[in-house]
Amino acid sequence: MARRKKIYEGKAKILYEGPEPGTIVQYFKDDATAFNAQKKDVIEGKGVLNNRLSEFFMTGLAQIGVPTHFIKRINMREQLVRSCEIIPLEVIVRNYAAGSMSKRLGIDEGTQLPRPIVEYCYKDDALGDPLVTEEHIAAFGWASQQDMDDILSLALRVNDFLSGVMLAVGIKLVDFKIEIGRVYDGDFQRLIVADEISPDSCRLWDMETGQKLDKDVFRRDLGNLTDAYTEVARRLGVLPKNASPITKPTLIN
Ligand code: TMP
Repeated sequence: MARRKKIYEGKAKILYEGPEPGTIVQYFKDDATAFNAQKKDVIEGKGVLNNRLSEFFMTGLAQIGVPTHFIKRINMREQLVRSCEIIPLEVIVRNYAAGSMSKRLGIDEGTQLPRPIVEYCYKDDALGDPLVTEEHIAAFGWASQQDMDDILSLALRVNDFLSGVMLAVGIKLVDFKIEIGRVYDGDFQRLIVADEISPDSCRLWDMETGQKLDKDVFRRDLGNLTDAYTEVARRLGVLPKNASPITKPTLIN
């Protein structure tokens, strides 16, 4: 059988040509990286969990009318998505200070922000994804003013949705990153949520204990990453209570 064509391999995912034009198969690897891939490991089961969790969040977003690239999950590690032109920005929404914002502005991690703050980073690994302003984005033509209005509105809707879903299972959504894609419908273009939404791209803290349930567990050597992601999946009902994502492929369909 002919091997399908690989389009792109990133740090945590591989993209293959999909079965129909305009589709892509997104494969979730077990690889974990941090600090622009200076720290690397293979975390057994991470890809399976992120595939499930991203499906869960993207499906929920579609149900409240937020357009996403997600079409359907294919198997444990792969999902079919709509192909799109990725806008070269990491769109970060923060509800509580943490990570690079705490460092940059000297605000204690966990301090609640007066309102959600949206930041943009230019997607360029060689530069370490530097923080940019709307001035840079407009001047260098990465997105138009209309795009920026749409991106802000998508980012805040995703924030409200994810915050609510997490609150319901006792988890605080500290911050997250999304990527936005451009699709064309005839002469019209519109923007959709693309890439993935998973504990790799969010900060999630247990509301009672403050325990970290996201990629900071790996970044900061705080314990077992798969256990943390499994806890998030279990609370959201994405995994049955007693299933292990690695040894028992008895996941809810
Ligand atoms: P930061 O505090 O390190 O800037 O991260 C903000 C949020 O963005 C956090 O939820 C983690 C996420 N993130 C990514 O998804 N990819 C990245 O490359 C980085 C640096 C952060």
